[in-house]
Amino acid sequence: MFRKRLNFNQFVRTPKYSFRRRSSRLKPMNNKAEKFAILLEDIILENKDTPTIVYDIDDLVKKFKIWNEKMPNIHPYYFVGANRDPLVIKLMSILSRKFSCSSISEIQQVLDEDNSLPILLTNPCKTNGIIVHAFKRNVEYLVFDSESELQKIRYHHPSASLLIRLRIGDPNSSERREQKYGVDVREGKELLQLAKTLNLEVIGVCFHVGTNCTDPNLFTSSLKDAQSMFNTGIDLGFDVWLLNIGGGFPGTSDILKSECAIFNSMAKMINKSLSNFFPKDGNSMVIAEPGRFFVESAVCIVVRIVGKRLVRSSDHEECVHYHINESIFGSLRVHKENQFRPLPEPILSRDDLKKRKICKTFIWGRTCGNQDSINRNIMFPLMDLGEYIMYTHCGAYLSPYFTHSYDNGEEKPRVKYFASDKTRKYLKKFDRFDELSHFFDDFESWN
Ligand SMILES: Cc1ncc(COP(=O)(O)O)c(C=O)c1O
Repeated sequence: MFRKRLNFNQFVRTPKYSFRRRSSRLKPMNNKAEKFAILLEDIILENKDTPTIVYDIDDLVKKFKIWNEKMPNIHPYYFVGANRDPLVIKLMSILSRKFSCSSISEIQQVLDEDNSLPILLTNPCKTNGIIVHAFKRNVEYLVFDSESELQKIRYHHPSASLLIRLRIGDPNSSERREQKYGVDVREGKELLQLAKTLNLEVIGVCFHVGTNCTDPNLFTSSLKDAQSMFNTGIDLGFDVWLLNIGGGFPGTSDILKSECAIFNSMAKMINKSLSNFFPKDGNSMVIAEPGRFFVESAVCIVVRIVGKRLVRSSDHEECVHYHINESIFGSLRVHKENQFRPLPEPILSRDDLKKRKICKTFIWGRTCGNQDSINRNIMFPLMDLGEYIMYTHCGAYLSPYFTHSYDNGEEKPRVKYFASDKTRKYLKKFDRFDELSHFFDDFESWN
């Protein structure tokens, strides 16, 4: 199991991509797993001390298809802050072609792909600089939740199309937002009146249930509030037609069935509430801003054991401490608030794995600080110095861009991309697929 609260005595699960030698005479795995295993093998054979971030493009494309299947009438504006890897942005500019940004550099990155791509500037509290940039680059949709924001927008981007952000409370969400952004319906009415006085154009309502939401019911209550806000806007004479249901969708792939079930029931509940509260009248449009959903399970990080110590406690219990070549200040993000930690999988052949003793284990990051601990007190197979471990489900809000953590001369992680033949064939249907060429060494073999 990945990304759940660690408990004592937890045993590592059998790896999905168990590493096998090419010469192995065991029954071959399916084509995709075989190819992925070869990629891992290549990383290991390179014998480098640099961590490697592996993007599984199949997974990302699969998510895109799942979204379209489950919520075909809701247009996903990919939340760029979740992962700004150049290939992710490139793929999204080919697949969903719509983006949600919250900074100048995010806007710039998207427009560098194609300056006609629709962008929603989703941050309800922006600097003057961002608003000016949005004006200059024709970013039309802006979000607000306060009088001061309306004043800034009136001054720097008076022709913007505005969405009012509703306040949502989700006690189960991994990042509670209800105090940071948004208005309730009563405050919203006053703000809309002010927008009217300032001659600004409000075209929509938005909310964000908080990342990693676990309660599908939250969408129902939010949609009910959104309906009320919509009607208030219409009563005040605005042409309100855009509903933005934000992000918050879980990001696992089908390995974790329970979270897939959450996504499915969210989709069902959203579709049902939309038909209750926003019956189709031809004018309105519904969009969302999923981030984690698309990228979380698409990334794994391959790290190497660069140090190993055996520590015996006072009651003679033995514990193995590994030091790896990556850090929580690098790409291995640990969510401090809710204790989510990436869980390790050994990269070992199946036969090898069976022979390993299971030990109580600590895994430490490469920086000297005591807080750079990735896993504590887990049960894990005994590994050797120089062997490799992989952390899966690392794609959302991973931090290869926190470059300051590499200032001490450490090399940044390498990035590798994986796409199976099936996915390559699928991507070839899109006009701009040849722009993917420089991400794949073997792109010529795609044809
Ligand atoms: C306004 C807004 N929309 C969408 C998202 C994306 O959330 P998630 O990655 O959970 O889909 C965020 C995340 O912080 C956000 O702040």
